[in-house]
Amino acid sequence: MDKFLIRGGAPLRGTIEISGAKNSALPCLAATLLTAETVTLHNVPYVKDLITQRRLLEDLGATVLTPELRTHKVTAKNIETFEAPYELVKTMRASVLALGPLLARFGQAKVSLPGGCAIGTRPIDLHLKAFEQLGATVSLESGDVVARAPSGRLTGAEISFEKVTVTGTENVMMAAALAKGKTTILNAACEPEIEDLAELLNKMGARIKGAGTATIEIEGVENLSGAEHTIIPDRIETGTFIVAAAITKGELEIRNCAPQHLVAVIEKLRAVGVDIEELNPNSLLVKCCDKGLTAQSVTTEPHPLFPTDMQAQYMALMTQAEGVSTITETIFENRFMHASELIRMNAKIEFSGSTARVRGVTDLTGARVQASDLRASASLVLAALCASGETLIDRVYHIDRGYENIVKKLGAVGAKIERITESAAKSAADQ
Ligand code: EPZ
Repeated sequence: MDKFLIRGGAPLRGTIEISGAKNSALPCLAATLLTAETVTLHNVPYVKDLITQRRLLEDLGATVLTPELRTHKVTAKNIETFEAPYELVKTMRASVLALGPLLARFGQAKVSLPGGCAIGTRPIDLHLKAFEQLGATVSLESGDVVARAPSGRLTGAEISFEKVTVTGTENVMMAAALAKGKTTILNAACEPEIEDLAELLNKMGARIKGAGTATIEIEGVENLSGAEHTIIPDRIETGTFIVAAAITKGELEIRNCAPQHLVAVIEKLRAVGVDIEELNPNSLLVKCCDKGLTAQSVTTEPHPLFPTDMQAQYMALMTQAEGVSTITETIFENRFMHASELIRMNAKIEFSGSTARVRGVTDLTGARVQASDLRASASLVLAALCASGETLIDRVYHIDRGYENIVKKLGAVGAKIERITESAAKSAADQ
């Protein structure tokens, strides 16, 4: 498994370009299954999860052309199978996003029930309950979710989610787009990625109103057509690089971003003492103010409040802030694995259940650490960038799932970071 070797202490200075949002590209690629016509998506990030999603579409029978690395032209004309197999789903739970479109267009879908992952059990019971409300029969057969629309077409309904679920909202939006009649989603997720998906679906001929709010209305239509769409910038990658500038006491210009998608993060980081200036609607200038950082507590909540996907990165920054901060994770039940690795780097963190208390400022020291999930990996990279000495991060395949070219992007602004591939490590060991 590849590793990152990082020598900390260098302030990052320069310009970083943000890639397309992984968590928008995943549902948008799934949405291409809703039509036999070609859907062209631009600004698709070149990350592992999207390579997996593309493979899923091709396994189902769709044609995916990439005239340019980040442009995907998908034609789901000859779909021969309606099954997302275990081998794929176990590597990427977002494969469940194929359920809604396959059910809506073909009246059937079979997706391996995703297991849990490092951050939690992550059930999809709310997705399945919603499909049943739309008239589908759903059963579990040898580990696979098998969904069928007995009458061949789903029927609109009022879906009230007892919990905010991002991919649950996305799955229902896609299923309802071709259902007979009207669907209303109550307590819908409000993430920018939901709005982006709705914009694509409406370009394809869907009739969706209210995306981005807690109530979404979908008037089902008979068919959807091809479209062209550009994926929004990745707000979590943006937040991660804002923290990178602050934690290394550097100065970064962050381009191709959408500051309006991470208002809660920007507000919290400004309160901590990070100097964040909007140069124009798509770029930020970030530097660490010279009076240092002040500990601020935070609780993760659904959008538009502070996102769970920034919690690990924020915890790394709090090790460099004066005072004690309390970080409360309310979305996932096990999202503090990065904390024990940060402690190996001399961070002063006490955590139990869903709350962690971080005492700063501590001088972090390089160590061998292990990534456990996507955002935990980002947290360890950030800590390593400001730690004294060398840090070796193992299992960086986690970070490759959601950060495009992170070694190249950080290296270009002065980070001392290199990827040690498994083969190189082996040959070095053999010498
Ligand atoms: C999406 O996951 C994101 N992934 C996650 O990003 C993100 O952390 C999460 O939303 C929360 O914002 C993608 O968009 C591909 P949820 P999702 O359904 O949709 C519970 C990253 O780092 N729940 O909003 O799977 C669930 O267990 C990833 O990029 C049920 O109980 O999350 C969790 O506690 C990590 N039953 C809460 O709801 C369900 O049927 C929120 O989950 C569905 C969810």
